[in-house]
Amino acid sequence: MNKQVTLFEMGPRDGLQNEKAHIPTADKIAFVDLLSGAGLQKIEVTSFVSPKWVPQMADAAAVLSGINRRSGVTYAALTPNLQGFHAAVAAKATEVAIFGSASETFSQKNINCSIAQSIERFKPVMDAAQAAGIRVRGYVSCAVHCPYEGAVPPENAASLAKQLLDIGCYEISLGDTTGQGTPSTIASMLAAVLPVVPADKLAGHYHDTGGQALDNVEVSLQHGVRTFDAATGGLGGCPYAPGAKGNVATATVVHRVESLGYTTGVDLDTLQRAETFIKHIVDTAA
Ligand code: HMG
Ligand code: MG
Repeated sequence: MNKQVTLFEMGPRDGLQNEKAHIPTADKIAFVDLLSGAGLQKIEVTSFVSPKWVPQMADAAAVLSGINRRSGVTYAALTPNLQGFHAAVAAKATEVAIFGSASETFSQKNINCSIAQSIERFKPVMDAAQAAGIRVRGYVSCAVHCPYEGAVPPENAASLAKQLLDIGCYEISLGDTTGQGTPSTIASMLAAVLPVVPADKLAGHYHDTGGQALDNVEVSLQHGVRTFDAATGGLGGCPYAPGAKGNVATATVVHRVESLGYTTGVDLDTLQRAETFIKHIVDTAA
């Protein structure tokens, strides 16, 4: 059995996109460098979205151009459309991510189009990425629960996950956007997704509003998932998912999965320094 767990660090993007106060670009850059120093091999640095929608990420290109790139580390960025993709490539993002939703209402609120329209919008991004040799990750937001529609049927998550795989995503990250998921609803969702997307192409992206994200990680491990998104300090949330808390905290995931016999390659002392740093920045900016 594979005892290696990969953590995809979300703090600079999912974490800082939701901060009301202005976080200086230089501090975002220092945060990313501390995270790569802690042994995190995958870091979602920023997003190339409309600055009118998410002003917190307006400095995406400056952040990517300021970081100290460590070899072997993936520096990822969200790209909802071709405009974002071209900007991400110009800023030398290592890989990009497209993001859809298993709930129609959230799709409209978050990216201003239906689920079907979003797939059409993603296709040219996939074509351009393939031509440029850039890997694309795909998100399924609202995989178990929607802030506007409530419980989301597992088949809806499975349907979008399969479509994202079919258009060429190398990995599908299943988002419990609101953090209302429980081991039971996550297990039901995974039971629907696994027949159409194999476990080694899945990641769990669990927000921790309900305090069950670590248990959701554990039930996902039991289903064969070995990649988890997490944010240092538990920062974050989505501006279009009101009330949702941050991603499960990276250090707590490291503790939980290592206690279960998995390895992560993350150095907890350095990670603690990153957490202390960004919490101080966020607190003083508030
Ligand atoms: P739209 O208004 O339908 O787009 O927004 P449009 O193509 O009609 O363009 C309108 C304007 O936006 C134009 O500017 C474009 O240039 C600009 P104007 O002429 O009005 O000055 N624009 C852009 N600017 C910069 N970068 C771009 C871009 N695209 C258009 N890429 C759009 C559609 C998708 C752009 C918008 O809805 C948007 O930016 N949404 C992003 C929302 C977002 O970032 N949400 C948070 C991330 S998702 C998340 O947190 C969930 C996740 O963590 C998983 C989970 O937890 O479930 C991933
Ligand atoms: Mg998220």
